[in-house]
Amino acid sequence: MSVWAVLVAAGRGERLGEDRPKAFVRLGELPLLAEPLRRLDESEWIDHVVVVAPPEWEEPTILLAEEVGASKVAACVTGGETRTESVRAGVADVPDDAAVILVHDAARPFIDDGVVKRLIDALQGGFDGAVPVLRLPDTVKRVSEGVVVETLDRDALMAVQTPQAFVAPVLRAALDGASGKLSQATDCAALVEAAGGRIATVEGDERLLKVTTPADLERARGWL
Ligand code: CTP
Ligand code: MG
Repeated sequence: MSVWAVLVAAGRGERLGEDRPKAFVRLGELPLLAEPLRRLDESEWIDHVVVVAPPEWEEPTILLAEEVGASKVAACVTGGETRTESVRAGVADVPDDAAVILVHDAARPFIDDGVVKRLIDALQGGFDGAVPVLRLPDTVKRVSEGVVVETLDRDALMAVQTPQAFVAPVLRAALDGASGKLSQATDCAALVEAAGGRIATVEGDERLLKVTTPADLERARGWL
């Protein structure tokens, strides 16, 4: 059973507000992208990686993969306008005989094999996909124009992270069918859900922090 990872790194990083795409902002000695590249390469579960680079950053992406010795990188493709388009570009380079596709945000640099194993185990239970989730620490309310509408049942709500694992043909079909509002989806599970797929949840990982704002970047630098 071959497992392919699609590492999406093509976002602009507008909320971070640096002079370059988020994947190329420095984390330690190297650009942020080096960390997930190295970690996916070291994974016991992942056979090959497709990296989705920001437009015009394909060459630095390939050079960085070489620099960190990421020998599992099979292809580097150019991303699109939305995350969904970037995933689509990456998945297009995954060969048809791949069994599982794991999609991961480069913006979550500290991916670790524990979560990857939990996802793959969940797929073996007959699901179309699996996602890591965390309970919400805060009370959650629905708000409209600054006014509380209702308090939601927190126990039924989860924060969802990446990596997310999918049965390869199911993800391909969901990407083919994604149009309209779905093209703005912030994760791939939403596409598979909309196509009627069953998604399992597994325990997430606090260390899968997503670097979105300058404060997140400071925290990630501290963790490194
Ligand atoms: N992503 C992508 N292609 C896009 C948009 C996002 O590959 N067109 C990737 C990002 O590189 C990131 C992940 O999807 O690894 C999650 O996106 P997000 O955290 O929103 O990153 P950005 O879109 O870069 O940030 P912002 O929304 O602040 O511009
Ligand atoms: Mg974004």
